[in-house]
Amino acid sequence: MEKFFATCPRGLEALLVDELQAAGAQETRVMPGGVLFKGDWACCYQANLESRIATRILWYLARAPYTSENDVYRLAAKLAWERHFEVFRTFRVQTTAIRCPLKSLDFVTLRVKDAICDRFRDHCGERPNIDTREPDVRVQVFLTEQDCTLYLDTSGAPLWQRGLRHANVEAPLKENLAAGILKLSGWQPGTPLLDPMCGSGTFVLEAACMALDRAPGLERVRFGFETLKHYQRELWLGIRNAALARAQEGGFRQIYASDRDDRAVRATKRNLQQAGLGDVVQVEQADFVERQAPAPAGILVANPPYGERIGELDELAELYPRIGSTLKQHFAGWTACFFTADTRFPKLLRLKPSRKTPLFNGALECRLYEIQMVAGSNRKIRAEA
Ligand SMILES: C[S@@+](CC[C@H](N)C(=O)[O-])C[C@H]1O[C@@H](n2cnc3c(N)ncnc32)[C@H](O)[C@@H]1O
Repeated sequence: MEKFFATCPRGLEALLVDELQAAGAQETRVMPGGVLFKGDWACCYQANLESRIATRILWYLARAPYTSENDVYRLAAKLAWERHFEVFRTFRVQTTAIRCPLKSLDFVTLRVKDAICDRFRDHCGERPNIDTREPDVRVQVFLTEQDCTLYLDTSGAPLWQRGLRHANVEAPLKENLAAGILKLSGWQPGTPLLDPMCGSGTFVLEAACMALDRAPGLERVRFGFETLKHYQRELWLGIRNAALARAQEGGFRQIYASDRDDRAVRATKRNLQQAGLGDVVQVEQADFVERQAPAPAGILVANPPYGERIGELDELAELYPRIGSTLKQHFAGWTACFFTADTRFPKLLRLKPSRKTPLFNGALECRLYEIQMVAGSNRKIRAEA
């Protein structure tokens, strides 16, 4: 059994546990921003291929207390890196920290890089090269106040890069955050789904893949574990082929997207087409406030613009109550979920959320507001009118 740490957007850890356990993970333990677990290499490959929520799966190598950069150097220098990857592989080191007393994380990165190169020189007579942009191998250093942990990244590029979204408009969500929001909304394939502010279509792309049971990693060109020495190609191909075999053919799945901006509509359509999902989702140009529900009941998910400047904030303060009226008039029977950092949102919408879930979009603290639209709120708005 190996030890791993799967990272994810903060707030989605519990959902990640379910996915990891489905991949065979054992002894899962939730930490802020990720999950520790144990598993074999099949579990690691499966988690990389199947997790919609994970950002990376890191393979644990070593941990020790430290007080200086030299302690970190010593911990790194005694690891048998030459057993983990070939000297012709390029690598990079990245350091993250919580409450680390050292002055410079860049210096820690440099010392770990030196330790790895020194170790290779001593054991192979030569050292591997650095590539900070597209390295074959990524070493992750994590420092707390007292401890230093070293990991090898088995994912490579972050797992939210599914290789599906090519056209982007304003502020696209990361795919793993979008997938987490869909799961938190309670949406299941088969239930009508609408994103009325679709931007580049992240929610509906993710939902379309879920509806067709397409593993999120199927389109990725490469995973980090493929460049490690103990990579088991046959094992990986078996896992990937099983996922390929269960992926379903396209066809409309009651997934709907719209945006008032024509560029967003075109970007969403292009992304769906390129992913071979063009016929799974119905996309149209529409202002949310004029939108009718596409089905008698379903799940609505939206990520309204945040509004960073004063003018935009005023515009949004005007838009939110109109969205509230649209929901009351046309979406009785639906559950609406809004993901936003704007804390004015529920008040201005004039609808009471049934649930508020704190979630982070990178460092930005956001909320997912769930609003149950019951038929009664309809009558109230008519009376008001
Ligand atoms: C933050 S972006 C959504 C990003 C999207 N979730 C993604 O991942 O690409 C907000 C979107 O809301 C759209 N929008 C703003 N006001 C709207 C309105 N009244 N009706 C429909 N769409 C609107 C914008 O055009 C923009 O595409």
